[in-house]
Amino acid sequence: MNEQHIMALAGENIMNTYRRFPIVLTKGKGARVWDINGKEYLDFVAGIAVCNLGHSHPRVIAALKEQLDKLTHVSNLYYTEPQACLAELLVKNSFADKVFFCNSGAEANEAAIKLARKYAHENMGPDKFELITMKDSFHGRTMATITATGQEKFQFGFTPLLDGFMYVPFNDLQALENAISGKTCGILLEPIQGEGGVNIPDENYLARVREICDRHGILLIVDEVQTGIGRTGKLFAYEHSGIKPDIMTLAKALANGFPVGAMLATDKIAKAFVPGNHASTFGGNPLAMTAAETVLKTILQEGILEHCEKTGGYFLAQLKKLQQKHPVIREVRGRGLMLAMKLDMETSDMVHACLNRGLLINSTGGKILRFVPPLIITTQDIDQAIKVLDNVMEGQ
Ligand SMILES: Cc1ncc(COP(=O)(O)O)c(C=O)c1O
Repeated sequence: MNEQHIMALAGENIMNTYRRFPIVLTKGKGARVWDINGKEYLDFVAGIAVCNLGHSHPRVIAALKEQLDKLTHVSNLYYTEPQACLAELLVKNSFADKVFFCNSGAEANEAAIKLARKYAHENMGPDKFELITMKDSFHGRTMATITATGQEKFQFGFTPLLDGFMYVPFNDLQALENAISGKTCGILLEPIQGEGGVNIPDENYLARVREICDRHGILLIVDEVQTGIGRTGKLFAYEHSGIKPDIMTLAKALANGFPVGAMLATDKIAKAFVPGNHASTFGGNPLAMTAAETVLKTILQEGILEHCEKTGGYFLAQLKKLQQKHPVIREVRGRGLMLAMKLDMETSDMVHACLNRGLLINSTGGKILRFVPPLIITTQDIDQAIKVLDNVMEGQ
């Protein structure tokens, strides 16, 4: 099939939920992907912060192939080794004592919302069910997670939403304090807002939020679906603040592209779930577990976090240099390899121009360009991307 045929087939048969670029991708290796016509692209989108180890990572592929020959799926009525081993690895490397496995970020957040409510119901009383979330946040597309998402554009047309959610501006401690009432059972936030435009809070924000939660006896839930698995230079972004959350959600990069989600909690909170409270047919699938275990081991054993910190610093410095040259760049910000550039103009034309020049970048809407490349990129890759951005901005 050629490109036109595939795009027509998709247009005719797939629901119209995505605004897609007119390319058909067929192959990926490291930080590069190729389209059906053989054109090469430097991929600074990485499936939107998913392929942190790059495309077709040899260790992940080998582990998946081996597992494929052994066992691809069984019900959660039975135990499997990959599930037990991944859970142990996650627990050993995080604040958490227990894990629940699912298949996506939205599902992980659904599980977190349910666990918070169940814990609150049993330990704080039936009147404490409200979660405070942040304006400009993003937590997924299910009914509970669009309700948790503090952006009306994702909720429009889907009312009535769920009861029990309140929104406050991100990075505003006073607003957060003011919003807490006798009904509040927890606070849900992203350590760095991803879809909202790579919004980075003040240095001590997360630590202060932890203090507020402790003072009011409410739960702190961090959504690390986008920031987790090394993206910001630490395995989990909450580690930058020296705090421990009560619940954390993961997905995206956890299995480098194999669909998986996880919700982690301390023992005390996790005890609120008992058999029958929550479940997922595919959650904990042996292939997904094997991929995720290999991803985590690779990140921890192969210096990926240090590399991310270093190349992220280099990338940020190059973007700042670009800012000096092009006044249209209002602000450059980010942590590790989760970076963004705020422009004085709409970004859509720039994203298309970069695509035409073989660079995939992403806009989080409006005037913000987001860069979430694989964590294995080199400084040469960054130089190549900067050159394309520079040329595009000069209108060449
Ligand atoms: C912070 C955050 N939470 C949740 C989600 C939803 O994840 P999924 O698309 O896997 O449901 C996303 C997706 O972009 C996200 O960035």
